[in-house]
This record gives sequence, structure tokens and C-alpha cells, in this order.
Amino acid sequence: MAKADVLLGLQWGDEGKGKIVDVLAPRYEIVARFQGGPNAGHTLEFDGIKHVLHQIPSGIFRPKAKNVIGNGVVLDPVVFKKEIEALKRYNLNLKENLYLSKKATLIVPTHRLLDQAYESAKGEARIGSTLRGIGPAYQDKIGRLGLRVGDILLDDFGERFRRLTAQHVAILERYPITYNWPQLEEEFLEAVAFLRQFNLTETEYLINNELKNGKRILAEGAQGALLDIDFGSYPYVTSSNTITAGACTGLGISPRYIGEVYGVFKAYCTRVGGGPFPTELADETGEQLRRQGNEFGSTTGRPRRCGWLDLPALKYSVMINGVTQLYMMKADVLSPFEELKVCTHYRLNDGSETDIMPFNLAYEQITPVFRKLKGWHTPLNNLKNGDALPAELENYINFIEEQLGLPIVLVSTGPDRLQTFYRHAYAL
Ligand code: IMP
Repeated sequence: MAKADVLLGLQWGDEGKGKIVDVLAPRYEIVARFQGGPNAGHTLEFDGIKHVLHQIPSGIFRPKAKNVIGNGVVLDPVVFKKEIEALKRYNLNLKENLYLSKKATLIVPTHRLLDQAYESAKGEARIGSTLRGIGPAYQDKIGRLGLRVGDILLDDFGERFRRLTAQHVAILERYPITYNWPQLEEEFLEAVAFLRQFNLTETEYLINNELKNGKRILAEGAQGALLDIDFGSYPYVTSSNTITAGACTGLGISPRYIGEVYGVFKAYCTRVGGGPFPTELADETGEQLRRQGNEFGSTTGRPRRCGWLDLPALKYSVMINGVTQLYMMKADVLSPFEELKVCTHYRLNDGSETDIMPFNLAYEQITPVFRKLKGWHTPLNNLKNGDALPAELENYINFIEEQLGLPIVLVSTGPDRLQTFYRHAYAL
């Protein structure tokens, strides 16, 4: 029996996982998404093409890879149809290479409306949801009310859909939300009819059979560990388990069959939406990071909050996920800076210092304690694989490796597939 490797984000999402899955995909026969939904935006860039995927696994551009949308995902058929249509021009064999779990939960249009209603009612305390209906869809899944992908094959699906949405409409009456229901319903049912043409199957059998046959599987996480429903900065989190364990429940893989865990992080930090962000820079340096890193959400276009690298948060993610290899992204964004800062500890209200994530991160004002490091202060875009990295960048990498006790096997210096450096001979 082969083992499935997991690739996930160690911060608040947007670490650049899409690029890495795409780089790794040639080594895998299957790429599988295990949680999240259209809140994700995985950007791939190669041969002058820039493409953003939301629900479809990032292995889709590799002709031989099978792509699986697992049971842990919440799938919006309307977004799915648009995504497939946007992929048409690449002539991919989607009917053969894409498999959807019958057990994945459906996002219905009223989930999106409920997301809006709940967020607006929270006022200042709003989470900054992407408003894609993620939270309400997972709520229905856990509440045992939800509809699943396999349900669209049932004769009475229309009836089930109307029953569920009628319950939502009754709730929506309490909120000042306006919408055109006949239009939303028509669009949804059309998208459901479209979805029926694809491989809807028991993907847990597919995955386990492939593992038995020695096939290599890459489980692709969405969002990031610090947005995990259990271990993230609750309540400013997404509604799924974004961590390694999510790959087990979201695909039907036993923990015994998890192999490598690739942890992807940016050389600095970003966050979209609300919630605590200890190293956030609300000044010109933060602005420069945003400009330099083009830090705007790939799903919502929102400007991302930016800050220095946060080691206590990374250590926490490494622990919870059982990371075995680190992948550092967007090193090039730090090139203009003469001096870099890395947060090594948090100073709490009582003056004590810790490198442990405090329970009340969301409520307590904590001050980051920084270590200053010399910047490389030179562009990296023209470096080619095999070239030596600047000494200060090596130093930055070594410092992080030492602190986290893990190798950084890959450093990315730009969005293209070619701007990727492997640092250790034992990298896959
Ligand atoms: P939701 O998942 O749309 O409900 O949003 C909950 C929180 O997670 C918000 O702060 C979002 O900005 C954040 N979030 C959701 N998906 C992503 C993502 O793919 N990247 C980064 N942040 C995300």
C-alpha cells in the first residue's frame, strides 16, 4: 500500500499552494482536494498563462493526473460550471480526469445569502467571510440537513432542494437581504444538470484502490492551518479542518496511510478578512509588502493584510500538521528590504514572553518580539535553478530551519514554474 502525501498552507491561506501542487503534480498520479470550497483561489502560472482555480484540484493542467474532489469539500455547482467553462480553452480531458465524491456537500444559493445575512448581522465582529456560502453549507452538513453531490442523481432531488431552501428562506426573512429567487433557482438547477455529466463516484474507494495499486496521491489543502475550525484563531476561521487530519476525513484515507506532509509558507505573513494577526504592519512597510507581493485576494480581490514572518504561529502549524518538509514561497517579495524582521516570541499583557499560541489570541493584545536579520537587497527574478542563492537569503532560510527543526527543501522566487529552487538533495 502506497501512502498519500499532503500539501497544505501553514499560515492564513494564500501561501502559494497552487503553484507548488502544480510543480509537484508530475510526480503524482492523483491530486485530491479534501476540504473547503469556492472560498479558495489557487493561482497557477506557466507558459505565460495565469489561471485561478477555486474548487478544481490544481493537478488539472497535468494531462495524466486524475483529480479528485473529496467528500470533505463543499461544492457549489454554479461556480463549478463557470470554472469548467473557463477551462474549455485549454482542451483538458475533464470528463475523464476529474472525479467528484458523491458525499461532498452541495452549496445551494441560499447558503450564499445566509453567509451575507450572518456576516452583516455581526457588524464590527464580522469574520470577513468570502461570502461563498461555506459556513452555512458546513452548518447544514453537521446539522444533518445538507444535500450531497450524489443526491443530484435521485429522482426527487428537486423536491429535496426546495425543502431545504424553503427552510433557509424562512431564516432569511429576518434579515434585510434582497434577492431574485427564480433566477437563482434556475441558475442552480441548470448547473446541477451540467454537473450530472461528470464522474460522480465513491472517491474513497477510488483513492484506496489506487493506494493499494501503489499509485502516488497528493492531497491538496485549501486555506491555511491558522484558519482551521478547531486550531485556528477562532472565531476568525473557516468552517473546515484545513490541517493534515482533514485529508483523512475529507478523502477517506486512514492516518496509517499518510506519508510526507509538505508545509507551505510565505517568507512573510498575510491575512485576508478579520481576526488577530500579531505581526501585522499597518504602515508603509506593510504597504510595500502588499505592493511588492501583489497581495490582493485571488477569490475576492480584497487587499491582504501584510506583516513579518511569525515563528510561534509557524511552529504551532508544524506541530498540528506533523509537517515533514517546508516550502518557502515569495522570497523575491522581501528583496527590496535592507533589514528583515522575524517574530520569535509574543510578549503578553503581563510582560512575559512565550512562543506558544495563546488561547485568547483573538482578545488579548500581544506584542511580537522580533529578531532582525540582514536583507539580501537584490532582485531574485533572474536567478536560474542551480544558481547560488544570496548569502543573506541562505542565512534567513537557515535561521527558520533552525527554529522549526525542519528542512526548507524548496524556495520559490516568483510565480512561474521555473522560479523554483530545491535546496536539499533529499527533496522528493
Ligand atoms: P469563509 O471560509 O469564506 O467563511 O471565510 C472565513 C475566513 O477565512 C475569512 O477571514 C476569509 O478571508 C478566510 N478565507 C477563506 N478562504 C480563504 C483562502 O482561500 N485564502 C485566504 N483566506 C481565506
